Amino acid sequence: MHVNTLILGAGAAGLFAAAHAGPRTLVIDHAKAAGEKIRISGGGRCNFTNLGASAANFISQNPHFAKSALARYTQWDFIDLVDRHNIPWHEKTLGQLFCDTSAKDIIAMLRAEMEAAGAQLWLETTIVEVSHTGSDFTVTVERGGKRATVKASALVVATGGKSIPKMGATGFAYQLADQFGLDVTDTRAALVPFTFSDERFKPLAGTATPARVTTQDGTSFDEALLFTHRGLSGPAVLQASSYWQEGEDVTVAISPELDLASLLKDQRRTQGRKALTTALATHLPQRLVDHLADEVDLSGNVGDISDTRIDALTSHLLNWPLRPSGTEGYRTAEVTLGGVDTKGLSSKTMEAKAVPNLYFIGEAVDVTGWLGGYNFQWAWSSAYAAGTAI
Ligand code: FDA
Repeated sequence: MHVNTLILGAGAAGLFAAAHAGPRTLVIDHAKAAGEKIRISGGGRCNFTNLGASAANFISQNPHFAKSALARYTQWDFIDLVDRHNIPWHEKTLGQLFCDTSAKDIIAMLRAEMEAAGAQLWLETTIVEVSHTGSDFTVTVERGGKRATVKASALVVATGGKSIPKMGATGFAYQLADQFGLDVTDTRAALVPFTFSDERFKPLAGTATPARVTTQDGTSFDEALLFTHRGLSGPAVLQASSYWQEGEDVTVAISPELDLASLLKDQRRTQGRKALTTALATHLPQRLVDHLADEVDLSGNVGDISDTRIDALTSHLLNWPLRPSGTEGYRTAEVTLGGVDTKGLSSKTMEAKAVPNLYFIGEAVDVTGWLGGYNFQWAWSSAYAAGTAI
């Protein structure tokens, strides 16, 4: 079989590229269903883009690389598409847009766009071998127990990163990049919870609080923090994990917006006979106060506490240095940091500079978004760049 464009991977990027790659396009995927990560994303509602998406929300060895694709297919373009398909959506927080009903609406939209463009989809198809002969790419696949050969003029690699192997994630894109002589930057799990080997936060598991989490390079995120059986999670922590290096500390500030010193001084005047722990529990989760009592002196009544003790307590809460022992890894990570080195790719088309008609798009590339719809926006923008260039 000969096609114009063969797209490997029927995830967000692959499906969207298929809608733009022109006639005689085939998409293949080893999974049973297309867009499985879309289906589970955003708690089943898919945070499909972010109103504020710009290159500043992405991590890459080349922070400028994403600019061109993001400018040529923006969040507004994707919102237009969602509106044209009458998919109801809402802004949740921080510019994050979610489906009102189900992430399946986005998958159905992508499938419809792809089918309208005449592209074909083969699921449950194993890629056995990829080679480049003359001007064609030859891909041997196994489908329904039979081997087949697909020849294509253009090959688009959209097989994603390594996060969540259980859902079909593989390092296949990096393997292919290597095969074609492209560099791959170091990869690691990102947007992932921190773990602590001593399980010190176990008694706090399930407790959430607003927090600012700052990594050693000075990057900080003000969002919710969630204590878990094995460590720390919640948006502030997931965001920080993308900037954290093994062996480093993170600094946690609990409820940084709260002027706890003034609140305690007021309570000292008006509710002096209240136990300090009880007074604190009116501002912080009770289980967090119980935990703090092991680290700071919280004895006595609020009426008896000196300014010095109030300052020591608030400074402890605002500068809590913690050294995670690791992360939950690819098992639960939302994305893979790093990937196919952008040095080898055109920022306008995602085409490999050294191999004409070979494209890498989506999470496979060394462009990693923050939490909040940015990773899908990169999938749409990079897919559009490649699809329209073919
Ligand atoms: P994606 O991983 O979507 O697709 C790759 C495809 O390639 C898969 O279908 C896979 O089966 C296939 N494949 C892999 N190896 C193969 C092989 N060897 N042979 C054949 N096929 C192969 N982002 C966001 O912006 N908003 C959100 O709400 C969320 N939520 C979220 C929740 C969870 C739990 C996760 C794990 C991730 C998110 N993300 C997210 C991140 C987002 O899902 C991710 O960035 C995109 O799906 C990346 O799209 P790609 O198409 O590049 O890869």
